[in-house]
Amino acid sequence: MSKPLLQVALDHLDIPSALEATRALADEVDVLEMGTILCYAEGSKAVGILRALYPEKTIVADLKAADAGGTVAEIVFSQGANWMTVICNAPYATMEAALEVARKYNGDLQIELYGDWTFDHARKWREIGLTQAIYHRGRDAGLAGQQWGEEDLEKIRKLADMGFEVSVTGGLYAKDLDIFAGIPVKCFIAGRGLYGADDPARSARDFKDAINKYW
Ligand code: 5RP
Repeated sequence: MSKPLLQVALDHLDIPSALEATRALADEVDVLEMGTILCYAEGSKAVGILRALYPEKTIVADLKAADAGGTVAEIVFSQGANWMTVICNAPYATMEAALEVARKYNGDLQIELYGDWTFDHARKWREIGLTQAIYHRGRDAGLAGQQWGEEDLEKIRKLADMGFEVSVTGGLYAKDLDIFAGIPVKCFIAGRGLYGADDPARSARDFKDAINKYW
């Protein structure tokens, strides 16, 4: 089982704040994410800026796209994104259109799992060619008290058994990673647990230490 990667979700309200966080974290993390909040606040130009500053990094545009998959994929992949997200409730046609553009740029599409989805849907996502899923405890669900539990772990394992590379996110801190020990996780994605720490680089090293300890 390969070691999980570490991804920072830049969920900032403006580009200068996102870049300040990136300066502190870029050497410590594997993947940079233009978070959904930054997408809304500043638009896709944030991807182009990250690509210009960090040409070697894997960059994700967390659009959580629900429609116009090909069009929005063209916007972010043409600016240098490697991966882009679609929401799990999007029509299959949206996923297929976005995936086609992703492949044109040698990129990939990730499906964001929120709310109600089923393994019948997941089988269909595999049929249309998706290989990456993001298992998510939503920000609002976390604030409402929803905890990680065995039910989540079972679903992550089952998705991995179906051939998905599964990333995990949602209010994660380094101390939480032991819950997922032994499960094949592609990336741990953290926002507030990294850029919100008093010492973001130190927090990233704590995540990496936990990954090295449990994988
Ligand atoms: C919210 C997201 C976040 O980027 C992701 O959950 C990581 O953020 P945090 O660690 O702060 O919860 O996709 O929709």
